Amino acid sequence: MSKSNQVEERQIIETVLSYCESGDTHLQRDVMKIPVAEYTDPNQLRREMDILFRQFPIIVGHVSQLPASGTFFTHDATGVPMLITRNRDGAIKAFLNVCRHRGARVEHQACGKANTFSCPYHSWTYNLDGGLRGVPKDANFGDIDKAELGLVELPAFERNGLIWVRPSTSATPVDIDAWLAPMAEQLESLDLQSHVVFKEWAVPREMNWHIALEGFQEQYHFCSAHKNTACAAYLDNQGVFLNQYPHVRHSVPLAGIEKLKEQPSDEWSYRKNFMTQNYLFPCNFVQVMTDHVYIHTIIPTGQTSCIFQCLMLIPKAADTEKAQKYWQANYNVVQQVFDEDFVIGESIQAGLNTGANEHFTIGRFESGLQMARQSLNDALAGHLKV
Ligand code: FES
Ligand SMILES: [Fe+2]
Repeated sequence: MSKSNQVEERQIIETVLSYCESGDTHLQRDVMKIPVAEYTDPNQLRREMDILFRQFPIIVGHVSQLPASGTFFTHDATGVPMLITRNRDGAIKAFLNVCRHRGARVEHQACGKANTFSCPYHSWTYNLDGGLRGVPKDANFGDIDKAELGLVELPAFERNGLIWVRPSTSATPVDIDAWLAPMAEQLESLDLQSHVVFKEWAVPREMNWHIALEGFQEQYHFCSAHKNTACAAYLDNQGVFLNQYPHVRHSVPLAGIEKLKEQPSDEWSYRKNFMTQNYLFPCNFVQVMTDHVYIHTIIPTGQTSCIFQCLMLIPKAADTEKAQKYWQANYNVVQQVFDEDFVIGESIQAGLNTGANEHFTIGRFESGLQMARQSLNDALAGHLKV
C-alpha cells in the first residue's frame, strides 16, 4: 500500500473518532437544491447521454473476464454496441461491434473465445486487433483498402484489475492515469487484479439513473431504509467524504470502530473498520467491503429507467463448500440491501411528475451527493473534461 493512501486512511479514522467524541458529522457548507426537472427533462437526458456516456471512460468489466488472448465480451448498455477483447499481445482492445461492410452486428455472443470475428451477414472477418482479414469474393469490391476497413477502435484501458472503455470515437485522447489519479493509490491498494468474479448480475429498474446513483452517495438513509439490514452494521450517519474530484471517496465506519481508540494508531486497520463507497465519475462505484468488493455501473436506458450492473469480486476462487456458502450469504445480503434502495428509488420515480416537488433538498451531510452533482454539472456545462 502506498504511503499516502495509508496517511489518508489514518486521517479518516482520526476524523471518525473525533466525530464519535464530539457527536459531529461531516458537513457541507450549505444545503443543495436539485431541480426535479433534472430527472424528468428529456433534453437533460439527451445531454447526459451525449456527454457523460460518450466522452468519459466507464468501467465495463474485470480483467478476469478477459483471461487470455482471444477472450471477449460484448457490452450494449450504453446504447453503443461494443466488443471488448484481448489481442495476441495481451492488450485490451475495444471496438464498435459494427461491421464495416453494411453495418451488421459482428459478434452476437455475450462472451466467449475467438481467433477472429466473422460478421454473420456476408462473413467479413476481423482479427483480434480489429483488422479486416477476410472479404468473400473481394475481387468484386473494386480497389477497396482493407487497411481502412477495420473495426472502429474505442479507447480501452486496463488499470488496477478493471477495464475502462470510452464509448465513442472522439479525437480527444483519454489520459486514463491522470483521470484516475485522485483515486489511484486507493485502487492500487485493493489488488483487484488478483480477485475473481463470484457473481455478475444486471437488473433493469424503473427509475431515472440519478435516483439509483444517489442511493450510494449518502448514509443518511441507512437506519431508515435499511433498518433491519445494513443499519446495525454501521455508525449512524457518520461517514467521511473526500472530494477526489471528479470522484468521491465515501468512508462508512463500521459499528465498533471506537475500540480503535484503545489501540496505537500504527496498528489500526482501515479495511476491517470501514465500508467504502467510491464514486468514479460518471456512473461507477467501487464499493469496498472488509473482505470483498462490488463494482457497480448505472446506465440510463430511458428517462424513467436504468440498468444496474454489478460484479462481486472476491480475493480468491470459492473452491470449497464453506467458501461458497460464505460468499453466497454475502451476496444474498447485498441483494436484499440493494433491493431496499431500488424499491424506494422506484417509488421516487412514480412521484416525480406529480409536481409535489420542484426541487429536492440535499442536506449538509448528504455530502457525496453534493460532490458528485457538482462534477456532473461541471461536465454538462463543459467545465470537466477527461
Ligand atoms: S454487413 Fe457484415 S459482412 Fe456484410
Ligand atoms: Fe442504501
